[in-house]
Amino acid sequence: MKILVTGGAGYIGSHTCVALLEAGYEVVVADNLCNSRAETIERIEEISGKKVSFYQIDVTKEQLVEEVFAQHDFSGVIHFAGLKAVGESVEKPLEYYYNNTVSTMVLAKMCQKYGVDRFVFSSSATVYGENKVPFVETMPLLPATNPYGATKAISERILTDVAKANPNWSVALLRYFNPVGAHESGLIGEVPTGIPNNLMPYITQVAKGKLPKLRVYGNDYPTVDGTGVRDYIHVMDLAEGHVVALEKLTSGVHIYNLGTGQGTSVLQLVQAFTEATGIEIPYEIVDRRPGDIAVCYADVSKAERELGWKARRSIVDMCRDAWNFEKNFTS
Ligand code: NAD
Ligand code: UD1
Repeated sequence: MKILVTGGAGYIGSHTCVALLEAGYEVVVADNLCNSRAETIERIEEISGKKVSFYQIDVTKEQLVEEVFAQHDFSGVIHFAGLKAVGESVEKPLEYYYNNTVSTMVLAKMCQKYGVDRFVFSSSATVYGENKVPFVETMPLLPATNPYGATKAISERILTDVAKANPNWSVALLRYFNPVGAHESGLIGEVPTGIPNNLMPYITQVAKGKLPKLRVYGNDYPTVDGTGVRDYIHVMDLAEGHVVALEKLTSGVHIYNLGTGQGTSVLQLVQAFTEATGIEIPYEIVDRRPGDIAVCYADVSKAERELGWKARRSIVDMCRDAWNFEKNFTS
C-alpha cells in the first residue's frame, strides 16, 4: 500500500515516514522544502533501510500535485504540509491562509479525481482555544485567535464537507498536542529556523550553549507551580498514531486528540530534562507571552477506545531523545 505524505521532509512528517515504512507501507513524499531539507529524506531511508520517492513540489500547485497522483496508485494521503509559526501567521496572514487551505483543497480534489478515499489531516489542539481542560473532541471549537489556528479550523471544515458529499471518504482529523523529542537514532528531529519559539527546542539549545538561558513566560498562572502546562507527546508516539489511524479508519469523519492526557508545567519539563541528561538549564521568569493559555491537555480516551492507540513514551524519554538529536546536530 502506497501513501502520499505531504510535508514528509518536516518534523512530524519525517518521523511518520519512518513509522509507515516500518509498518510495510510504500511512501511518496511531496514537500517544497520551505521549512526542511532534502537530507532528511536520506536519513529516513537510512533509518528504515527502504527507499522513499521524493517530489520537491509545492502542494498548492494543482498541476504538479496531479502529476504525482497520475504516477502512483495511492491508498491514502497524510497531509502534513503547512506553515506553522503562530507569530508569523499574524504578520503574513494571506500566506498562511493560502498555503494551508489551498493545499488541503488541492489534495482533496485530487483524491476525488483519482479515487483515493483515505485522508489523514494534521490539525492542532489550538482549535480548542481556551476551553475547559481536558479538551474533548466533542467540544464546540472557539474562534481562533490567530490566522494559523484559523487555517486548521477551516481545513477541518473543508474536509468534513467534502466527506459528507462523498460517502466513501474516510477522513481522520488528528489534533496534535505538543509534539517533542526525536527518533531514537538521533538522525532526524526538529530543526527550528532561527531562535526557537517552542519550549523544548529552546531548552535543548540552552543545553548546547547556543542560547544563554531559558525565559519562562510567566509564573502566575493557576497551575501547580504557576508556569504554563501542556500535554507533551513524543513525536514517535504521534507518528505511530498516524499509522494506526490510517489502518483503522472507516468511512466518515473521525476526530482524534493525539496527546498523552498528562499535563506538564514548564518547570517540570526543565527538571525532567536535567533528570534525562544531567544538564542544568539556567532560566529566568519573565512576563507571560501574549496569546498563551494557562493549561492545555487532552482527553485521549477516544483514540484509545476506537484506535487502540496510546502514547507510550515518558517525559524523560522525550527529553533524552530531543537532546540526543540536538547534541549531534550540526549547522
Ligand atoms: P514542519 O514545518 O517541520 O513540516 C511541514 C513541512 O511542510 C515542511 O517540510 C515544509 O517544507 C512543508 N511545506 C509547507 N508548505 C508546503 C507546500 N505548500 N508544499 C509542499 N510542502 C510544504 O512542521 P511540523 O511540526 O512537522 O508540522 C506538520 C504539520 O502538523 C503542520 O501542518 C502543522 O501545522 C501541524 N501541527 C504541528 C504541531 C507542532 O507543534 N509541530 C502541532 C500541531 C499541528
Ligand atoms: C505553540 C503554538 C501553538 C501550537 C503548539 C504546538 C504559539 C503561541 N502557540 O503553543 O499554536 O499548536 O505550540 O506545537 O506559538 N515557554 C516558555 N519559554 C519559551 C517557550 C515556551 O516559558 O521560550 C512556555 C509557554 O509559555 C508555554 C509552554 O512553554 O506555557 C509551551 O510553549 P510552546 O512550546 O511554545 O507551545 P504552546 O504554547 O503550547
